[in-house]
Amino acid sequence: MTDGFTGYTGGGVTRAADEETPQSRRGGSWFDEAAFGLFIHWDHASQQGLEVSWPMVDGVNNPRWRQVVGVDEYRSSAATFDPVEWNAPALARAAREAGMRYAVLTTRHHSGYSMFHTAGSTHSVEHSPYGKDIVREFADAMRAEGLRVGFYYSLSDWTHPDYPAMTDDIKPYAVAKLPKPTPEQWERYITYMRLQLTELLTNYGRIDMLWFDGHWERDLDDWYPDELKTLIHSLQPDILVNDRLPGLGDFETPEQFVPDKPLEARWETCMTMNQNWGYVPDDENYKSVREILQTLVNVVSRRGNLLLNVSPTGSGALPASQQQRLEAFAEWMSVHSESVHGVEPGLEPWQFGGPSTRRGDRIYLHMLAWPLEHLAVRGLPVRRIEKVTLLSTGEDLPFTVPFGVAAMKDADPHGEIRIGTPAAAPDTAVPVIAIDLAPLSAEI
Ligand code: GLC
Repeated sequence: MTDGFTGYTGGGVTRAADEETPQSRRGGSWFDEAAFGLFIHWDHASQQGLEVSWPMVDGVNNPRWRQVVGVDEYRSSAATFDPVEWNAPALARAAREAGMRYAVLTTRHHSGYSMFHTAGSTHSVEHSPYGKDIVREFADAMRAEGLRVGFYYSLSDWTHPDYPAMTDDIKPYAVAKLPKPTPEQWERYITYMRLQLTELLTNYGRIDMLWFDGHWERDLDDWYPDELKTLIHSLQPDILVNDRLPGLGDFETPEQFVPDKPLEARWETCMTMNQNWGYVPDDENYKSVREILQTLVNVVSRRGNLLLNVSPTGSGALPASQQQRLEAFAEWMSVHSESVHGVEPGLEPWQFGGPSTRRGDRIYLHMLAWPLEHLAVRGLPVRRIEKVTLLSTGEDLPFTVPFGVAAMKDADPHGEIRIGTPAAAPDTAVPVIAIDLAPLSAEI
């Protein structure tokens, strides 16, 4: 943890051999097939156009986006939180159509504002003009669209008196400067946190994912990770927990980047569409639809998932740039979903110079650039290639096997093929070419 910088570079997943359910299989296979998820960062201070939590302590995720307000000023918009444009069913539908199979909401970020009804605090949506339970609306809507439900929950709470609460004199943010609780305060805080986790994991039906954050402000043991783990699994046996309580996690969470090689454990890259997690109206620094989809296919071809963030405004609407991107993903998914959902990593980089996936005997080539001439793909069982299809247009592509290879005596020779690609790239963000192989047992 560097002062003032919160970028997360990895906590690590510890594999425990004596687990009842091995981490590699907990929750079944939904996470391994999901590919794409929706992250939602939202807080009452979105009304002020402030990044979630960090402006109250003068700490930044991205140095170009430093925002600083007094802690009381940050908290003040809790009194007027009334997101009448929040439409959880519409967001759930947009996410499903965009190919997202799960969603994770900030139920309580570092600021300490609970987006649910809780007996642990009055700093919550229950005491806002809106009054309704946003976490319930979120969970019900996502489930109704068939999405898995995830809760982000910050271990740190910058408003709770026993944490203790942040004050203006700690600024700029540095862990060493944070006020320390007395042992009595800390026991009360842990009791409060366990109460809230119990509420979240009891009152909203089956919860598929718990996404911790904010652990770095205390020593690991201060969080009583083993007791937490027992509590969590007693309430939700199949839930997946991320790695931000190191040692507890089922999957790793690289933040804002794609690891250079597949991670050993299950993993998920979380990423913003622009530069902030929460709604910041001036931040129109959006990644293009193509850039995001290229990231998606890079992640999926390395057996990961992409958790892509949106930031509702203070009134609950989705910013137009984010809505448009979800719609564009839906258009791409309507043709290409089969190349990212429920797939395995495909070819190696020496075989094809781009991300590739596979399901059974169908191999998918994700085209990040369009060939100047033909496309060579190497190390394929050349006699078993049945057909090559440009998925984006549905057309069959011609292919040839260089002379000599197919005539080899080997029953199942491997070699190179040349695929004839149209001169112009098809009109889609990431074109996909599918190669169908006859099963190994078939007559050839
Ligand atoms: C960081 C930030 C936080 C954000 C999270 C998402 O740890 O503290 O604001 O919610 O990353 O991954």
